[in-house]
Amino acid sequence: MHYQRPVRVFVSRRLPVDPAAVLPDHEVDVWDGDRPPTAAELRERCQGADALLSVLADRIDADFLDACPMLKVVASFAVGFDNMDLEAARERDVWLTHTPGVLTDSTADLAMTLLLAVARRLPEAEDEARTGHFGPFAPTAFLGLQLAGATLGIVGMGSIGRAVARRARAFGMDVLYTSRSPIPVEDREGGEPVELEELMARSDVVSLHCPLTPETRGLLSADMLARAKKGAILVNTARGPIVDEAALVALLEQGHFAGAGLDVFEEEPRVHPGLLERRDVVLTPHIGSATHTARRAMAHMALRNIAAVLRGETPPNPVPGSRSPS
Ligand code: GLV
Repeated sequence: MHYQRPVRVFVSRRLPVDPAAVLPDHEVDVWDGDRPPTAAELRERCQGADALLSVLADRIDADFLDACPMLKVVASFAVGFDNMDLEAARERDVWLTHTPGVLTDSTADLAMTLLLAVARRLPEAEDEARTGHFGPFAPTAFLGLQLAGATLGIVGMGSIGRAVARRARAFGMDVLYTSRSPIPVEDREGGEPVELEELMARSDVVSLHCPLTPETRGLLSADMLARAKKGAILVNTARGPIVDEAALVALLEQGHFAGAGLDVFEEEPRVHPGLLERRDVVLTPHIGSATHTARRAMAHMALRNIAAVLRGETPPNPVPGSRSPS
């Protein structure tokens, strides 16, 4: 690809690495606002841009691509790509790329963090210690779930699900999982494949690791959630709309679930008000990949994908199904 003009890249958020240093031959424009760009601002800044480095909150659909006809690649700073219209990109010969692999361990760490925090009732216990209500030792206070001997159900046994399974096995948990496609025994991390209904019925903790697709939207419906064991814990570091949030709140209120650890929500950044008040729920603001290691690697990966497309090459990490190499 030969350009008669500077090659322009728009980066829609500040990154943990300097994109201009990674792409010295390109004209790099970085959104520097304290709030994210609106959809209109994103379009405006992408006028004349050859590449966009976007985040999950940026909607990449047919209208957006039509409004920014110079774009050859949209490199998403995320592994999930439910914010992108793959068909629209295919039809317009625009590459979509993502950042698989590099955030697996960090996201699995957060799932375990939420699991442990809910299992050991961290918000309540921390509050007691912090607010001067530290009472005398009480054999019946703050009883929670011991992980060793408990069963973890993993919904979606991709790379993050397997990384969580490895951690859970190290804690002495038994692991069940569901998966769209069969997994060879050597990659099961000691987990047992089951149907979702059975997983719900047998698990002390259910942790979600599937992508958001038309099939998984609402997968944990009111009906499916009600199949959980009484006293189960739900952990979600995948995508909010996989769970019927209102039904989860109702089941928490009824004491059917002992608690939940949630990093993702149905309508981010809105959190269901019924979750905000609960002490048996641990909430984090979509920070699964937020470690120095993962976020730097994601930035480098996204920038490498942009550089490859702008050199006229196939990018190393295309979104599956977005475009086949020509
Ligand atoms: C975060 O949610 C991601 O998909 O990377």
